[in-house]
Amino acid sequence: MKRERWTGKMGFILASVGSAIGLGNIWLFSWRMGAYGGAAFLIPYLLFVFCIASVGLMEEWAFGRSQRKGAIGAFKNVFESKKAGTGALGAALGFIPVLAVFAVYIFYAIVIGWLLKYFVLSVTGAFSTMNIPEYFGTFTGTGETIGWHAAAVLGTMVIVLFGVRKGIEKANKIMMPVLFSILVILLIRSVTLPGAGDGLAYMFVPDWAKLAETETWVMALGQAFFTLSLGGATMLVYGSYARDDTDIPSASMQTVLFNFIASLLAAFAIIPAVFAFDLDPAAGPGLLFVTIPNVFDQMPGGHIFGILFFLSVVFAGFSSSVSMLEPAVEGFMDKLGMSRTWAVIVLSLVAFVIGLPLDTSMARFGLWADIATVYVLPFGALVSAVVFFWIFGADNARAEINKNAVKRFGKWFEPYAKYVFVSVALLVMILNIAFGGIG
Ligand code: PHE
Repeated sequence: MKRERWTGKMGFILASVGSAIGLGNIWLFSWRMGAYGGAAFLIPYLLFVFCIASVGLMEEWAFGRSQRKGAIGAFKNVFESKKAGTGALGAALGFIPVLAVFAVYIFYAIVIGWLLKYFVLSVTGAFSTMNIPEYFGTFTGTGETIGWHAAAVLGTMVIVLFGVRKGIEKANKIMMPVLFSILVILLIRSVTLPGAGDGLAYMFVPDWAKLAETETWVMALGQAFFTLSLGGATMLVYGSYARDDTDIPSASMQTVLFNFIASLLAAFAIIPAVFAFDLDPAAGPGLLFVTIPNVFDQMPGGHIFGILFFLSVVFAGFSSSVSMLEPAVEGFMDKLGMSRTWAVIVLSLVAFVIGLPLDTSMARFGLWADIATVYVLPFGALVSAVVFFWIFGADNARAEINKNAVKRFGKWFEPYAKYVFVSVALLVMILNIAFGGIG
């Protein structure tokens, strides 16, 4: 079987941007920006995302491209080439990031299911006749979510079934432009509402004092890692489909920039509207499933804007979920010699079945989501960085990142990657545990 490739740099970037833009941008970024100092929050955030997390992005891409394998095969190759007979150990280690991202997929699919349900509710105009806060509590954690969860798994499955180019790339080429366009429309609606000014102030008036608080920096760092999908598997497998002439440093700057723009657009689209209706911006599910439906229920033209909003969030969800399923699919194809079709079907079924007990209990759902994002995912990011920069070697890593790049990294990049980036990746793991989640 010939390994698939993206059609070009644009397809590769769009797929990566699709992975990056997800619930993290929508249900965390806007709230965090407001809560941790408004415009002042952008200082640690931009610093971490451009100067630190982008190194992780380039690392994962270059790692995948250099080995033309996903994490399991890539780790195996690197171990084996350093010391014969250690390949199996490498493969076992490479299993960790793949499993981590798959664990995230299992609960993410449930959230996409909720979003699908809310999309349908917005289409039928049901928000105006229901008790929105109460509804979320009676819907989630019950068997009612199972059908929607199944739809989310099915949607992800269909995209990944079509493969790298005809599935993932194509879907992102449709979903990303639509997502950005919708966010711009919503932004215009949101900032022109009477009373939107308080929300704009909440978001933008810098509260410099927040920069003196450790938590501000910790949250910005966690956000930077999670939003770029760093976990050692997703961006790695996407990189393994990248062409050799893809300029990785430039692609990483573009991906980080698009992802940041999406976060800002979402924040502009959400927060001013929330303030215009005297609601409290919340973090997490509360924002998306309670506050926002309330906003659209009260807003002039809210029916149509509500539909657009939930459509855009569904797209943000699917463009990420496909990137969580693909690493495991690649692993099954490569390790077990399965066809893509069978790998996708088997893994989708597994993800769905494991997710079932999470459907029916919010306690179990919360526990699983925590374990996956707080413990396992940051560990995957750390392991891949150590293997690439320390075992494959910082010099080889730099050469792969610089391959066909217009602006190349100098020698300084090697100690920076090896010591600074790897230490920060370790710190992200420790802080996640200490704070009970920062991503
Ligand atoms: N970046 C995605 C988001 O912000 C999450 C993600 C994590 C996607 C890990 C893939 C892998 O929602």
